[in-house]
Amino acid sequence: MLTDLYNAYVDTFRGADGNLPPMMELKRIHTAHVVANARLIAKGEGFDAETARACDAAALLHDTGRYEQLKRYNTFRDSDSVDHAVFSHDIVKEKGWLDGDPQREAILTAVLVHNRRDVPDELDPLTEAAVHTVRDADKLDIFRVLENQIATTDWRHDCTAFWNLPTTACPSPAVVAAIREERPVDYQDIKTLADFVLIQVGWMRSGLHYATSRRVSAERGHLAFRRNFLHELTDDPVVDELCDFQISACAGV
Ligand SMILES: [Fe+2]
Repeated sequence: MLTDLYNAYVDTFRGADGNLPPMMELKRIHTAHVVANARLIAKGEGFDAETARACDAAALLHDTGRYEQLKRYNTFRDSDSVDHAVFSHDIVKEKGWLDGDPQREAILTAVLVHNRRDVPDELDPLTEAAVHTVRDADKLDIFRVLENQIATTDWRHDCTAFWNLPTTACPSPAVVAAIREERPVDYQDIKTLADFVLIQVGWMRSGLHYATSRRVSAERGHLAFRRNFLHELTDDPVVDELCDFQISACAGV
């Protein structure tokens, strides 16, 4: 079973005490949350069993390369090491975990493109569902991770969890413009902690593909958390402007 293969692979990174290095353990936990989110999305969207299974597998495998990335390069920053989605895709392929699996290509593609700014055009329906589900499920868990980091770090004095971005500066015009226009934000435009948080507000407005994902995000209070936190960072009225939007999923789902 795929989960057994994945778990056995993760076990190879455990130390003599049986534990994973803490940073790897965070990725293992993240993956479990992404799988759970993918299941919620598949159920909410009414996917058939085959589609739901491909989404599940893609969610499980999407960050496979994170363990080797950390071991080899001691960082999760792709720009300083490898594109972790390509790395994950290559490891899964090389291990042969999906050999003979009729959904192999859809799952591998979802792993490969899960971190890309844009989703490739003209995907077949199975691949498209796996791609969008993993991307949404991943974002939903990144919301949880940010909230944990804010709760558990002294971010005003040590902002290493947030790329050492300045904590008191206003949102950057390029980021505000992209979110207003519902365009993806270029990561090079992120100059402040407020930008970092606003990107996720942008995901809630236009980056989550499925209505179920938008509903789950709303139910978990992720937007309210960001609005409150942004008010701690800045008095800029643009915060309320960008956070005031209707979550379209709420009416219909
Ligand atoms: Fe990832």
